[in-house]
Amino acid sequence: MGRGPSAMPPEPGWFAVAESSWVGAGRAVPVRCFGLDLVMWRTSEGQLALMSDRCPHRGASLSRGTVDAGCLACPLHGFRFDPAGSCVAIDAGTVPPLLRTRSLPVREAYGMVFAWLHADTPTAELPWFDDLEGLAHHSRRIRWDVHWSRVVARQLDRIPGPRQLRSDACSVRTWSVDGGPEHYVEWRAPNLLISASGVRSRVLLVVVPVDRHCTELIVRTYARASVWSAVVLWLASWWHERSIGRDRLLVEGQTGEGSRGNGDVLVASDAAVAAFRRIREARQLNTGS
Ligand code: FES
Repeated sequence: MGRGPSAMPPEPGWFAVAESSWVGAGRAVPVRCFGLDLVMWRTSEGQLALMSDRCPHRGASLSRGTVDAGCLACPLHGFRFDPAGSCVAIDAGTVPPLLRTRSLPVREAYGMVFAWLHADTPTAELPWFDDLEGLAHHSRRIRWDVHWSRVVARQLDRIPGPRQLRSDACSVRTWSVDGGPEHYVEWRAPNLLISASGVRSRVLLVVVPVDRHCTELIVRTYARASVWSAVVLWLASWWHERSIGRDRLLVEGQTGEGSRGNGDVLVASDAAVAAFRRIREARQLNTGS
């Protein structure tokens, strides 16, 4: 599996990594997360598979292959792999038992693909927000050249003025004292953020750790469905993308990972960021990563 110089140890948790709609029938779609090069594809029944993007035969990229009859065929010599990563057909002779690629736990819910990349056994529960129930959404996708922890921390900064804070073992919510609880940002482990500035709309930010130096953001704008919702959502999502993007150069200018022990000196107004770092660290320790 791809572990280049930008690789980092996968963290525990169900990481949202893609929109379900990106993985159409008959397509092999590459995805990079924690420096691991992976491929997503669907069986004939529509079941999603996630596995290493490296063919165990001679290293070709399986995401350039073809999906056919419930298998993924390598583009170089056509060897076929099932969703469990086992090679089920080669060009001649019997299939050696070692000819298999790593397959990873993957689930679909809320129109998203969730991947478990850590060595520990996956937990049952997927992270999500009840606040999004019954709302329509529009999605955009952007990339920033910075460690993913810096992106989460910056979003927790975005509540202006005095703030209040609530946290538990897997989330941090901060809201404006002046604007009230309807003006909030919440991070939910491992990589989801929601923000609201009133009752009408919500923004979900999926922070995908591509590698140590790169983060992909899936920005979903949510609002109540109506006859105008397609237009309203498109315009609102364009505005939100610009609003988040205004920070891009500032955040990309931050060096390294946002974690305890990296030399950052936090102050009282960084309480939400400190809570995020504490929770992330505790989750890593609890699973022995
Ligand atoms: S490199 Fe994949 S089948 Fe040969």
